[in-house]
Amino acid sequence: MLLWNLGEGMTYSKRFSSKFFSRLLKPAHPDNPIRDRATSFEIVFEHLDQKNVKNFTIVETGCMRADHGELAMGDDGASTYIFDDFINYYDGQVLSVDICQANVDHANGMTSDKTKVHCQDSVDFLWNLPKKQIDFLYLDSYDIVRENPHPSQLHHMKEMCAVIDKLGKGSIVCVDDHDAFFTGDGKIAKGSYVKDFMDDIGYEPIHEGYQIVWVM
Ligand SMILES: C[S@@+](CC[C@H](N)C(=O)[O-])C[C@H]1O[C@@H](n2cnc3c(N)ncnc32)[C@H](O)[C@@H]1O
Repeated sequence: MLLWNLGEGMTYSKRFSSKFFSRLLKPAHPDNPIRDRATSFEIVFEHLDQKNVKNFTIVETGCMRADHGELAMGDDGASTYIFDDFINYYDGQVLSVDICQANVDHANGMTSDKTKVHCQDSVDFLWNLPKKQIDFLYLDSYDIVRENPHPSQLHHMKEMCAVIDKLGKGSIVCVDDHDAFFTGDGKIAKGSYVKDFMDDIGYEPIHEGYQIVWVM
């Protein structure tokens, strides 16, 4: 069991702020919109920093890809890269899944051996994960389309169904592209159905912006 003494200056969120915060707010092209994942990731890492046992399990659906360049932080987010940085600052594992082999190869090539990206459908993957509590679940798989958001929203709800028995008190859940079309109301969001479900079981988001975050 790895225990950390949280002294001044010894938190990952501080490292995240100096290393990634501003890069996440800079799209590869100036015409691309700014997607603020920096604020929400900082909140997530501040919560994880508070945990006494620094051996984390991060699970992600939809890994980093090279669509906007090798490290497209300001566009897709390069989440796998950032989570790998976190897990190497402390300890633990990043388990990621993507249905596209090229993206899986890219993400495995950009991360350490503490991160393992699997090529599989995310619902199947989450259902078959060992029953160990997840510290941070990041849902960012099936891309959402404005004219037909339902398949993406349903897929993310199916992911929640498949993973629910690996979540517990203190698990953090974040869904990306909550304000994908900048409508400001989170209605055409990857996580709309997940939000409905979380509302029903009594969890208020701790952050709602480009991403939505809950602490269970
Ligand atoms: C928005 S991208 C992920 C971006 C990444 N999280 C980042 O920060 O760079 C969505 C990814 O989900 C993958 N995907 C789509 N449907 C999927 C499914 N059913 N299961 C697993 N992955 C899927 C796509 O191949 C794509 O790589």
